[in-house]
Order: sequence, then C-alpha cells, then structure tokens
Amino acid sequence: MMVYKPDKNGLQVNTSQGYKNVEDFLRGREQPLYLYSQHDVKSRIEAYKGAFSRPIDMRFALKANSNRTLLKEMMSEAIGADVVSIGEVERALEVGVRPDDIVFSGVGKTKAEIQRAIEVGVGQINVESLPELERVIATAKFLNKETRVGLRLNPDVSVSTHPYITTGLKENKFGMDISHLPGAISLLRTAIGLVQCHGLAAHIGSQILDISPMVQTAKWLRKIFEDLRGEGWALQTLDLGGGLGIDYQDENHDSDFVRLKEYGSQVSEVLSGLEARVLVEPGRFLVARAGALLARVEYVKETPYKTFVILNSGMNHLLRPSLYQASHRIVSVRPRGPTLVRCDIVGPICESSDVFGREKELSLPREGDWLAILDAGAYGYTMANSYNLRPLPDEVVV
Ligand code: LLP
Repeated sequence: MMVYKPDKNGLQVNTSQGYKNVEDFLRGREQPLYLYSQHDVKSRIEAYKGAFSRPIDMRFALKANSNRTLLKEMMSEAIGADVVSIGEVERALEVGVRPDDIVFSGVGKTKAEIQRAIEVGVGQINVESLPELERVIATAKFLNKETRVGLRLNPDVSVSTHPYITTGLKENKFGMDISHLPGAISLLRTAIGLVQCHGLAAHIGSQILDISPMVQTAKWLRKIFEDLRGEGWALQTLDLGGGLGIDYQDENHDSDFVRLKEYGSQVSEVLSGLEARVLVEPGRFLVARAGALLARVEYVKETPYKTFVILNSGMNHLLRPSLYQASHRIVSVRPRGPTLVRCDIVGPICESSDVFGREKELSLPREGDWLAILDAGAYGYTMANSYNLRPLPDEVVV
C-alpha cells in the first residue's frame, strides 16, 4: 500500500483514518519538514514479524529514525532497540524501551559509553574488536556488574549496495575477523560469571535488495554458534542485523513485501531447529516509506541550459542523494497541471552536489509551491545537519 499517493486533490498521506490531504498539514507553515505516517510503520512491524516462521526479537535501528513520537508508537508493538551511541541508549530508554531489549553495537564505544551501558543494564553489548572486549571486561569488573556481550563477526561477504554502506567485507571496519574468535574466547574465560558470552551477531550492510548474502550469513553464523555451544558456551542469541532494502524507484510498495517474505522464509529455513533467540535489527525497511521531506520552492531559475527548481531544503536536510547518489521520487504536493517539464531539483546549499534530482519530470511549480521528496523516513532527519548555519527541519507525525 502506498503511504503517499498522488490524487486529483493533491498528494494524500495514509493515516489510521484513511488518506488525508498533505496540504492540511502544511497550512501556516513555510519551513521544510519531515512528515511521517505512523500507521505505515506499524503495519510494517507486523509484516516483518509475520515473515518468519519462528519467533523473532526485533531491535529497531534507531539510527534510521529517532523521532520520539514515532518511536513511542513503535515501541508499543513490543520491539526493542539497536543503538550505536549513548545518545541512542538514552533515547531508547526515554521512549520506554526496557534496558534488556537494547542491543548496543558500534566500533568506537568510549569508556564512558560502555560504563553507562553496563550501569543501565543494556541487554547485549555487541563487541566489534578484542580491545573493545577488554574494555567491556575491565568495566564490568570495575562495576562488579554482570554484563552480556554478543560477538559481532565479520563474515567477509559481498553485497550489492552502495560501497559506503557495505559493512560485512574484510576491508570494512565492522565486526571481528573470524581469526580473532579464539582470542575473544580466551578473554571471556577471564571473566566467567561476570561477562556472559550471550550470542553472535553480524550485520553486512544496508539497502540490500538481493537477499542471498543475508541468508548465507545466517547460515554461516549458525554453524559457528553451534560449534561454540558444542564447546560448552551457553550462547542464547543469534543477531542477524538489519539491511533489508526498499526499491526507491518502485512506487508500488508490494515488491518490499515480496522481498521481506522471501527473506523471512529463507532465513527461517536455514535456522530451522536451532534453539536460540533470533534478533533482527531492521531500520530502513520499517520507516523509509513512512516519511516524506516536504520543502517549498523558493525560485524557478531558467538558464539557457536547464531549469532549476530551487527549494528551501537541501543536502543539509536529506544527505542521501549527495552522499550516496541516492535517487528519491519527487512529486508536487499539488501539481499545477498535466504538462511535465524536465528540471533539476536542488537545494540552497553552496555545493554543486546539493541536488535532489536531475532531469526529473514535474509539473512546473511556482514560488511557494510544496514538493515532496518521498521515502525519506529512514536516514533523513537523523543525518540532517546545520551546514551553512541553516536550521534543522521540523518533524510531524500523523
Ligand atoms: N544494525 C547495525 C549494526 C547497523 O549498523 C545498521 C545500519 C542497522 C542495523 C540497520 O540497517 P538497515 O536495516 O537500516 O539497513 N545512511 C545510510 C545507511 C547506513 C546504515 C548504517 N547501519 C543510508 O542512508 O542509506
């Protein structure tokens, strides 16, 4: 089902009371804003849970979207949080996540972050290197507090996504190389009874559309999990990370669900019979479609070569197009007519990469009209910045 759909009365957004005119939420506003449909997020959580033929424990990756209102709604579906900084730990606690339902990943956790995580009783700290494991053990000893760690492994698998967001290749900084597993085990032996080796984890990248490397990784992880159990380690969790992508060009979101079902069924199959709690850390899949960045046209600038539609929002608010050459669909909130013109849709920032879309076909807007940059609910606001000393956008949840 589409979250934002064009209509003769202008762009509509899906809410729990049916489709509503986006213009209704823009009245009286001038500044750019992110508009999220919580209805859509909730139905995606249900779909995700239902795609697996075994129970899974969801840990939403807060880095994709950390809006408090949206998170509170999501957490009412009994999911936990995947976090990568103490700021995200605090946000998770603030919106009502139980400490036990937090998984803390990230390659650069500081001493203070580890200490706070142990103090609040974070459910699992996913360690990504031997020096980090040493730090966790030292901190647990210092606090004399039981702590659970997951070992995040790097499977060295290739995924076809943007090179900036692969994380499971040996040249990536993430996870531990398998050759470091014996070292990790030796360290854990020095802290038996205090630091529990709770499970194994892997996360191989983001915006993945071909699921086979994800399934392959689940299979690989299962083997190591069973080997370690065979050696007497009482592992409990198998954390598969996030990564499932959406097709940004596909306005019919059905393909998302086809891919999700395939992922769920193949993973359930390779894990069949395994007695473990399976954790998943989806981010984008749950929230990307739910959000649109709404921005106003400041100028329509014609040059002898091109037509530029210049918005009051740019790479400062949605970095994905300039950072990853990501292409988001762009539509008029209220099209001016059926005639389409080719134009470049750009922001106000003093960088030539500040382009939301090149040669996009649009009903030519005028100054003051609103455009919607779709599928911006994941890694939109969370990556926004105040470059050029411009203010951050607003966020509205419907
Ligand atoms: N778990 C871990 C440990 C992660 O690092 C990530 C994302 C996730 C889960 C969630 O992945 P997802 O399901 O959202 O793919 N800024 C980039 C994406 C960076 C992803 C970083 N890690 C973008 O806008 O495409």
